[in-house]
Amino acid sequence: MDNKKIPFSRASISGLEEKYVIEALRSGHLCGDGSFTKKCHAWLEKNVKTKKALLTHSCTAALEMSALLSDLKHGDEVIMPSFTFVSTANAIVLRGAVPVFVEIRSDTLNIDETKIEAAITNKTKAIMVVHYAGVSCEMDTILEIAKRKNLLVFEDAAQGMNSKYKGKFLGTIGDLGSLSFHDTKNIVAGEGGALLINSSDFIKRAEILREKGTNRSQFFRGEVDKYSWMDVGSSYLPSDILAALLLAQLERSNEITERRSEIWNKYNKAFENFEGKEIVSRPVVPEHCEHNAHIFYLLMQNLEARTKALEVLKAKGIAATFHYVPLHSSPGGKKFGRAHGDLSITNSVSERILRLPLWPDMPNSDMIVDLVTDVLKSS
Ligand SMILES: Cc1ncc(COP(=O)(O)O)c(C=O)c1O
Repeated sequence: MDNKKIPFSRASISGLEEKYVIEALRSGHLCGDGSFTKKCHAWLEKNVKTKKALLTHSCTAALEMSALLSDLKHGDEVIMPSFTFVSTANAIVLRGAVPVFVEIRSDTLNIDETKIEAAITNKTKAIMVVHYAGVSCEMDTILEIAKRKNLLVFEDAAQGMNSKYKGKFLGTIGDLGSLSFHDTKNIVAGEGGALLINSSDFIKRAEILREKGTNRSQFFRGEVDKYSWMDVGSSYLPSDILAALLLAQLERSNEITERRSEIWNKYNKAFENFEGKEIVSRPVVPEHCEHNAHIFYLLMQNLEARTKALEVLKAKGIAATFHYVPLHSSPGGKKFGRAHGDLSITNSVSERILRLPLWPDMPNSDMIVDLVTDVLKSS
């Protein structure tokens, strides 16, 4: 790493990751569903507490599996926030269904649960929540609406590994949950994800969809004497080498979360005073939510202030960043989706959000604090 530059994120890799990856390489089993994949499944089922966990090669793949499992058809609608990554919507669009974009809350930046019901039509099949920055959506209200309206609930918990809502891990609360182990996430496999299946009805079919539409998993367990084409499907398995890397990360997940939290808390404390002066606002974590310190962001006063802060940090080699271009205003969103109601909070947040570098072994967080403090003082 160039010492003068601070990247936006960087995974924490220890001797354990190296040990497991070498073991996987020497095992002779490099494809999916080897012993490390099985250990990751068992770890997730035991520790995150889900009925069935299936590793995938990305969270995108897990989201696509959720859409396939729910038998979404052409013209069906799925309610979701516009303030999210493109994969949340693409999974729905790939099935010919329509993402319906609903406003976010101004505090947690999660879908505004009070706006969901008005967006439901007779075509609505599911609600896709996104737990932004690893802080939970208001799941009790969302589950109650879904139950009353007979809708499925998908959780895009790409950012939510190790976070909780009222004591339950994110991804285990709706019918199906998707985690990401992409290099930029807290727990990484380079590329990777997992589908968490919380409703037993989906387990058998999920195994088939993930294995190219075959019952190969049953065959490998000795439950059938040959395998064949059973259903639609694709190849969603990661290599066992990546599962080996992931197992080490899962075993270190509390340690990694604690180290991220130290930096998150330092940032949060450092910028407290500026919030009082209404120069910025900091992340809001409701009392009933435990978060995983995935993202520390500041909401600047306006686009100009955000641009200035990014420039100052970039000049010092600090890779701060922003996201998302709201899906409803992007070319894909206009073509494939539909906005419901006013999305002015989504638009405003997207222009004002400033995300600071945050990773477990990050040096110089004090320097970042000092630089951002100077920028805020001059606002
Ligand atoms: C909210 C959200 N959903 C989905 C994804 C896609 O994850 P992956 O890269 O593992 O496919 C991301 C990744 O940034 C994300 O932030």
